[in-house]
Amino acid sequence: MALVLIGFMGAGKSTLAAELARRRGRSAIDSDVVLVERLGHSIAREFELHGERAFRAAEEELVCDVLAQASGEDVVALGGGSVQSDRVRDALLAGGAHTTLLVEVDPQAAWERVAAGGEGCERPLARERGAFDALYEQRRERYEQVADATLLWASSDSGSYPVIVGRGLLARDRLAAVWPFQRSRSRAFCVSDRNVGPLYAERLGGVAELVEIDPGERHKTLASAEAVWGALAAAGMTRADHLVALGGGVVGDLAGFCAATYQRGVPVVHVPTTLVAQVDSAYGGKTGVDLPAAKNYVGAYHQPAAVLVDPDALASLPEPERAAGYAEVLKTALIAGGELWERVAADAPVDERTILACARTKLAVVAEDERDVGRRQVLNLGHTVGHAIETVTGYERYRHGEAVSLGLLAALRLSGQQQLREQVSGLLGAHGLPVALDADVEVEQLIAATRRDKKRTGEQVPFVLLDAPGRVRTGCPVAEPQLRAAVSELQG
Ligand SMILES: NC(=O)c1ccc[n+]([C@@H]2O[C@H](COP(=O)([O-])OP(=O)(O)OC[C@H]3O[C@@H](n4cnc5c(N)ncnc54)[C@H](O)[C@@H]3O)[C@@H](O)[C@H]2O)c1
Repeated sequence: MALVLIGFMGAGKSTLAAELARRRGRSAIDSDVVLVERLGHSIAREFELHGERAFRAAEEELVCDVLAQASGEDVVALGGGSVQSDRVRDALLAGGAHTTLLVEVDPQAAWERVAAGGEGCERPLARERGAFDALYEQRRERYEQVADATLLWASSDSGSYPVIVGRGLLARDRLAAVWPFQRSRSRAFCVSDRNVGPLYAERLGGVAELVEIDPGERHKTLASAEAVWGALAAAGMTRADHLVALGGGVVGDLAGFCAATYQRGVPVVHVPTTLVAQVDSAYGGKTGVDLPAAKNYVGAYHQPAAVLVDPDALASLPEPERAAGYAEVLKTALIAGGELWERVAADAPVDERTILACARTKLAVVAEDERDVGRRQVLNLGHTVGHAIETVTGYERYRHGEAVSLGLLAALRLSGQQQLREQVSGLLGAHGLPVALDADVEVEQLIAATRRDKKRTGEQVPFVLLDAPGRVRTGCPVAEPQLRAAVSELQG
């Protein structure tokens, strides 16, 4: 199976195909470039000489040839309009011949890129904005019909990587098609837990070693990390190989940390299998383990080599774990505002679209601030109190997402957003999440735990507060009496 990139003009298909191909040790095949070679002049010139119809006929012929010949490790970028052809669509859909990735772009960004093309790069269908937007709408559905998955490109100061989201991606041949390494050159070593390994590890196809930890937050520890390092060393993993984190946020954080530190760093591919991990923890490169004193106290930034997301893996997730993930969806929607918040506020199903929107939000935040010194702090909404709840209850009573839902309610109270707090409380409750803190959790202990939060600078623990969905403030000082009131309110 080859990888075929489709999407609207200006989406960046050619650049991304070249980058994906480079990582596979080859050159990309760009249908527009091959067509220009075949025609002997530019596409704009072909439009002038023979019109769009003749161009489309030539394009259809060429793309069908390219798709018939492409195989194995090939990465192909198709011209934006080529999927309008029935023959091209049939070739893409035919019996799983290739894996088709949709490179998304919004019309504004596409216009800016295409309009900036300059002389020699002018596109005949990008001369007038109204017609350009209409074409975008017309083609959008076509792309979605033929795409097996969506490709987002994550960028940060320390590197960039593909994020591929698609139902059925964990099918063996699909996964092989999108795998970011040549297995003959770099062996895959997998870290999973004892729940997830038996369900999905076999889908990875021939890993050199599978290391399974006991499931749960209690095992996100240095002791588990040491066990993983030991197992990798015993199995002979080298820096030419790569690690796979197959599981939820616990496995992702732990395996990411092991990848950051084993032989001073090996690449890691995340294959997230919980909602928490698919909407949040797999992206952005924060890795680490807990100490008894506080959560995530030891760790490193280590960006993934790729994140491969199959929403169908959530089918086996127990309901309380899915609910815990919903807390991170709600948090992300509050940070994003706009369309994502509207979807979540309307209690739309948490599906592939929601997962993609959450991933996009997080990637945009991390792209601005990888190391959490500015914008990234918005992602901590609800987490100061949430982490304190997890710590004082010994990481056993509440799942991370459950603690975050209580933390969100406290943050909304501290933000003076009572009405929004009620709305959020209604949504959390409807998804089976706690909206009241157990009466036996000591408020004073909890407040003391927030002081150990690793975001503390000097005397103050900065809080993340919200003026409205999409309008988040970071670094907000909160006086202790206010915090006490917000936490006490959680206990009714
Ligand atoms: N690094 C980050 O940016 C970041 C962001 C958010 C959360 N986190 C971390 O994520 C962790 C929580 O992650 P989580 O909620 O995914 O918990 P988890 O990894 O403990 O998974 C929850 C449970 O579900 C099981 N499971 C996982 N996938 C399954 C599947 N498909 N089918 C059946 N069972 C499955 C696991 O074995 C486990 O028992 C916390 O440690 C938190 O700190 C990290």
